[in-house]
Amino acid sequence: MNRIAIAIDGPAGAGKSTISRLIAEKMGIEYIDTGAMYRAITLKLINKGVDISDIQKVKDIVNSTKVELVNGRVYLDEIDVTEEIRMPYVSAKVSDVAAIPCVRERLVHLQREMAKKTSVIMDGRDIGTNVLKDAEVKIYLTASVEERAKRRYIELKNKGIDVTFEEICNDIKNRDNIDTNREVNPLRKADDAVLVDTTGKSIQQVVDEIISIIKEGA
Ligand code: C5P
Repeated sequence: MNRIAIAIDGPAGAGKSTISRLIAEKMGIEYIDTGAMYRAITLKLINKGVDISDIQKVKDIVNSTKVELVNGRVYLDEIDVTEEIRMPYVSAKVSDVAAIPCVRERLVHLQREMAKKTSVIMDGRDIGTNVLKDAEVKIYLTASVEERAKRRYIELKNKGIDVTFEEICNDIKNRDNIDTNREVNPLRKADDAVLVDTTGKSIQQVVDEIISIIKEGA
């Protein structure tokens, strides 16, 4: 197989990471969860008590921070933070951090470096429109707000995290709003992306649908 890049974008809870991970396994290619990278940086800024309006401070920290994705685990300065970055207190801040231009500049650079080396499926908000503009296949994955919130709620509850459905709904709406309205690389469907609505579909149905799009497009 020739080297291939697959870009998966869409709002929170559309199923991007579950679907991307399964497709990566099936195709034997690398999965890159860019949201996890923004979450890791956010966790560091929270732990250090940084005021994110202090752009110079944010820049210094971002440029001296190591974020790595290895075998499905997320490492922040060599510490495994895979579970911590999913906590609601990180979700509540991540979109504000991701809207800061110097944060995006640094992470987009790292993401492009990762995609240079090997075939990848990369998910996020600006992959098809910016990070991997030349990706062979672009998918815009979405679902209704209610369904997205329901999936997130079940996921967090299964992990034993104490949240209400209302909190999750508000978090998703808030992040959708910040992600689609920010100035730098907002969330939007790339003109050449295929829209896949996952509302009411099983994981397997969506995986099969995307695999056939990949077969047609690659
Ligand atoms: O994918 P996930 O929901 O974990 O992403 C967390 C947040 O990171 C998003 O709500 C968005 O604000 C930000 N993000 C981004 N660009 C990406 C990936 C994620 O701005 N490529």
